[in-house]
Amino acid sequence: MIKTGVVGACGKMGQEVVKLVLNSPDLELVLAVDKFKTGEKIKDNVIIKDDLLNSINEAKPDIVVDFTQPSVIFENIKIYQKTKTKAVIGTTGLSSEQIDEIKKMSKENNTGIIIAPNFSIGAILMMQFARQASKYFSNAEIIEYHHNQKKDAPSGTSIKTAQLMISENSNFKEGNCAEIETIKGSRGGNFIENNKGNIQIHSVRMPGFVASQEVIFGSDGQILKIHHDTINRECYMSGVKLAIDHLYKNNNFIYGLENIL
Ligand SMILES: NC(=O)c1ccc[n+]([C@@H]2O[C@H](COP(=O)([O-])OP(=O)(O)OC[C@H]3O[C@@H](n4cnc5c(N)ncnc54)[C@H](O)[C@@H]3O)[C@@H](O)[C@H]2O)c1
Repeated sequence: MIKTGVVGACGKMGQEVVKLVLNSPDLELVLAVDKFKTGEKIKDNVIIKDDLLNSINEAKPDIVVDFTQPSVIFENIKIYQKTKTKAVIGTTGLSSEQIDEIKKMSKENNTGIIIAPNFSIGAILMMQFARQASKYFSNAEIIEYHHNQKKDAPSGTSIKTAQLMISENSNFKEGNCAEIETIKGSRGGNFIENNKGNIQIHSVRMPGFVASQEVIFGSDGQILKIHHDTINRECYMSGVKLAIDHLYKNNNFIYGLENIL
């Protein structure tokens, strides 16, 4: 049995992870942490607590799964590393610099961690197809759509997609004329990393969406659209389970679910 903890256990994703752990014969829920509903019982011996460090020290999970929020995730990861607790991170909003620092910490502490901006297999394929198409198209933009309670923009998935795309093509604004925005932000945010990119990312936030993304490629006389829709949050759970199983047997740093598929 893999002793598993869920951090952010009362959130939209955390509740799905709790269900996954309770319904998986090889997983045992030993810890639930959230700032909300503190003191409520999830199952015998598991009560929702809000003190992450003490809860980990008491329950000693083999692995924790974290779906909290961008403002706390880096500090949470420092706690996982300090207590040598393996962690599956679904929370988005980490910067590239923080991800590099986490990689270093993980090596120094010999404590594995998997960070995946998207656990849905369809979304991973969408990202890989976008990477493949990048070799052949001079221009590309990304539109990502989420529910209006999402705190960070653009989404972690759109950033990861753009990072994969620039590994195949360094400039996606071939031939655009000089642009003037009469309403600030109307062209979206321009993704540039290590002087590569020029991919405009547009973030839509409204009720009705779970998570969708469209990558649009253009070149002379043709448009290619790669589109993925998340219908409900169950779609992430097979990826979360895969990450838990992988991390239980391995002890390395991984960024992106595609690296363990
Ligand atoms: N990787 C993926 O596949 C994927 C998919 C969906 C969402 N996400 C990301 O997961 C995160 C959570 O999304 P959500 O929709 O479940 O959000 P949510 O707001 O519904 O849930 C977050 C939960 O975390 C709790 N929380 C916040 N700060 C905390 C802290 N310091 N300690 C303990 N608990 C804390 C909140 O009380 C809340 O219950 C977001 O960053 C979101 O972008 C990732």
